Amino acid sequence: MILLTGATGYIGSYIWIELLKGSHEVVGIDNLSNSSASSLGAIAVISGTTPNFIEGDIRDKEFLDQIFDEYSFTHVIHLAGLKGIHESLVKKEEYFDVNVKGTDNLLQTMKSYNCLKVIFSSSAAVYGDCTSSPIKEVDTLNPSNYYGETKLEGERILAKAFNGPPIISSISLRYFNVAGRHPSRKLPGYSGSNTHSLFSEIESVITGKSESLKVFGNDWGTSDGTCIRDYLHITDLVKGHLDALKLLDDLEKCLALNLGLGVGQSVYGVISMCEHITGKLISRQVVPRRPGDVGVSIANTHLAAQLIGWRPEKTLADMCSDFLL
Ligand SMILES: NC(=O)c1ccc[n+]([C@@H]2O[C@H](COP(=O)([O-])OP(=O)(O)OC[C@H]3O[C@@H](n4cnc5c(N)ncnc54)[C@H](O)[C@@H]3O)[C@@H](O)[C@H]2O)c1
Repeated sequence: MILLTGATGYIGSYIWIELLKGSHEVVGIDNLSNSSASSLGAIAVISGTTPNFIEGDIRDKEFLDQIFDEYSFTHVIHLAGLKGIHESLVKKEEYFDVNVKGTDNLLQTMKSYNCLKVIFSSSAAVYGDCTSSPIKEVDTLNPSNYYGETKLEGERILAKAFNGPPIISSISLRYFNVAGRHPSRKLPGYSGSNTHSLFSEIESVITGKSESLKVFGNDWGTSDGTCIRDYLHITDLVKGHLDALKLLDDLEKCLALNLGLGVGQSVYGVISMCEHITGKLISRQVVPRRPGDVGVSIANTHLAAQLIGWRPEKTLADMCSDFLL
C-alpha cells in the first residue's frame, strides 16, 4: 500500500494515474493549498479507478497518525511541498515549515509505523550554480536559493533516517524542469497559483492573458545570453518514479538520482520552438536577472539509466505541442 503526498498537484495527479493503472493500492493526501479536488474526477476517468483521497497536511502529526493507523503503508512517494524559487526567498518560514518540518514529521511517522521505503521529490535546485555541466549526482551541492536549501535539507533528513534503526531506504529524485501535459487534456499542464514556469508564461501570452513574456536576463554567458534549462516531459518523469519504486523494493540505501532529458534549452530556444509549433509570435521583454536563478542547469542522467534503467523518450517539441495545441 502506497501513500502519495501532494497527490492532487501537477506531478502527483500523473503519478497517481500510473500507479492505479499498474494496480497499486494508493492513498493520496494533499492539503489543497496549491491544487484542487477537481483533479480527482480526471484521475478517476483516465485511470478507470476511483482514487482514495484524504485531505490533510503533512505537518499535522495527528492526521498522519490517523492514516497510518488506518492503512498499512509499505511505501511513501513524498511530493507535497512548496516549490516557488522566488516565493521561497520572501516566505522562508513557510517553506521551512512545509518542506523541512513537514518532511521530518512524515519520516518520523514512517519510522514509528515501520514503513521503510520512500521516494522523495527533490530538485536540481540542490546543486545551485554548478561549475560542471551536465551535472552529476556527486557534484557539489550548493543551492542558490532558499527553495533549493529546503530540498537539500529534505535529503539530509532522509540520510539521517537511513542511519538510525529502523532503517528507511530512500531514493531522492532530483527533477530538472518538468513540462508537458496529458494527451486527454483533462489535467493541467502545470501546477496551481504559485507557479510561474516558462511554459505557463508562454501560454498566458499565446492566449492573450499577458501582453509579453518576461525574459530574466540576456547576459548569462550562454550562446544567446538567456538561461539554459533541462526540460523533461511529465510522462518520462512519472516513468522514473515507477522505475525507482521497483528498485526500492530490494534497496537498502539512501540514493539520489537526476531526472532530466540531459539536453539544455535556452529561454529563446523554447520560445522559438513554441512559435514554430503554434504558428504564433510570442512577444517578449528582457528584464533584469532574478535573485536565486542560475545560468545553466543540465542533468547527467547516466546513473538513473544504470540503476533503474530509465531513459526519457519525449522531446522539447513533444512538450510544446502537448502543452499548447
Ligand atoms: N514541477 C517541477 O518542475 C518540479 C521540479 C523539481 C521538484 N519539484 C517538486 O515536486 C513536487 C511536486 O511538484 P508539483 O509541480 O506537482 O507542484 P504542485 O504544487 O502542483 O504539487 C504539490 C502539492 O503539494 C500540496 N501541499 C503543499 N503543502 C502541503 C502540506 N503541508 N501538506 C499536504 N500537501 C501539501 C499542494 O497542495 C500541491 O497539491 C514538489 O515537492 C516540488 O518541489 C517539482
